[in-house]
Amino acid sequence: MKLILEQVEAATDLIRVMTFRPATDVALPDYTAGAHLEFDLGSVGKRSYSLIDWPTESDLYTVAVQHEVTGDGGSRAMHALRVGEAIEATEPQNNFPLIDGDKPVLLLAGGIGITPMISMATHLQKQERPFQLHYTGRDVSRMGFTETLKSEFNNAVSFYEDNRKPLELGQLMSSLALDTLVYLCGPRGMIDAARNAAVEAGISEQAIHIELFTIAESRDGDTAFEVEVSSTGQVVKVEADQTIIEALEAAGVDVMYDCQRGDCGICQCDVISGIPDHRDVVLSDAERASGSVMQICVSRAKSARLVIDL
Ligand code: FES
Repeated sequence: MKLILEQVEAATDLIRVMTFRPATDVALPDYTAGAHLEFDLGSVGKRSYSLIDWPTESDLYTVAVQHEVTGDGGSRAMHALRVGEAIEATEPQNNFPLIDGDKPVLLLAGGIGITPMISMATHLQKQERPFQLHYTGRDVSRMGFTETLKSEFNNAVSFYEDNRKPLELGQLMSSLALDTLVYLCGPRGMIDAARNAAVEAGISEQAIHIELFTIAESRDGDTAFEVEVSSTGQVVKVEADQTIIEALEAAGVDVMYDCQRGDCGICQCDVISGIPDHRDVVLSDAERASGSVMQICVSRAKSARLVIDL
């Protein structure tokens, strides 16, 4: 899809709200709450941003991009786009869908992780379904959309600041009905803490849905290892600063993936032999412990070679 940047507004000093229209005279495809667009940023690569849908109807696409000062150039490239410029993007895809039904819903957003939650709150409010939206950040000056969230969702939304009014995760999770569906979107530390608190409070792991807002980063001590593709026997070396997907693609192996953060589950592979070093947030503890599946966008190996079912 070719899109044209129609409008840019600042939500905070670092967050720009970018609205796109179609390049041709056709309606943009519909999308569901939690969906994202993947933009083609040329040499920088592809980057995904959640679509924002407020209760006020719009037939355009809106995303919000936070400038990541120490990032890998994706947000810089998005911010460099000028109104009237064209960009290629996929049609909306949704790896973070809301489950239909009448169960109560908890939406918990950290920082720029608020973006998919806005569309979810809009959808839930239209359905008259009970929900709570909890939005936490370092301080309110860095948290976009606070005024609009208050006016659109009133008492359903609560705000927290790390230093002045921190979110008490244990208290929040233990206040929920046990059949609550929990949606988490934000940085890794918040997601891990919130998921643990929800499980400790008795919420089932299957009721917890996650989208990360960080990309895979190498860690100190990461080393190279080999991956063998079981269907062809091809062996590919994964360097210490490469992901398995990057190494496979560089070697000409066709791989399916999307988020590249370890939360969507699209790149999941069966492990035939070797020991995975899991770094995703999508597998359950039992799946991780089994060692028989892994997300090859972020996870690595604890053994010298992994044989994966590709
Ligand atoms: S591409 Fe989403 S989990 Fe790997």
